[in-house]
Amino acid sequence: MTIRLGDTAPDFTAMTTEGEISFHDWKGDSWVVFYSHPADYTPVCTTELGRTAALKEEFAKRNTLPIAISVDPIEDHHGWAPDIGEVGGTDLNFPIIADPDKKVSELYDMIHPGEGDTSTVRSVFIIDPADKVRLILTYPKSVGRNFDEIVRVIDALQATDRNPIATPADWTPGDRVVVAPTVSTDDAREKFDNVEEVRPYLRFADAPSS
Ligand code: BEZ
Repeated sequence: MTIRLGDTAPDFTAMTTEGEISFHDWKGDSWVVFYSHPADYTPVCTTELGRTAALKEEFAKRNTLPIAISVDPIEDHHGWAPDIGEVGGTDLNFPIIADPDKKVSELYDMIHPGEGDTSTVRSVFIIDPADKVRLILTYPKSVGRNFDEIVRVIDALQATDRNPIATPADWTPGDRVVVAPTVSTDDAREKFDNVEEVRPYLRFADAPSS
């Protein structure tokens, strides 16, 4: 199945390290970072899940729940979980889906056979409170993801949902933003502080405080 930005994230039921979940019910009106890792007891994945656990407060500040998935059985997830805490310094504090029959991995197209075997690649879906898919990333098995970037994208999505703005290259919170093309420069000067018209189509402004 092809999932595109703006689609409703497919619902499913699955067993996780925190018990069986029905995905839409579990997420409620939170944002979600839903990501796959290739396999339990592997080095890069151990660092990624440890980093996610360490970011719990940052995700919570953004009304965001992380959830991971691999095709390993639930017994392996439970057996591996202590390593994540011991290596990364923060105990596993979010669910990992066990998907040995590949039902959810295939639903989200997380298995790319050209990448070597039938385990999942490093897919990321950021899903909003209305269950819409807002970002899709796909990394190869050999490259660990940058979780600062994942948090940054959540900040950018939430900022652009609040105001008619977009975020320029390399934006981080606090940086100046771009005025949306739908807003005239005159209206932008009413609405935002320190509007600078670099080109008629490129207007920077201070980031709105809310
Ligand atoms: C890892 O997590 O280290 C890994 C998993 C599968 C392929 C390559 C690396």
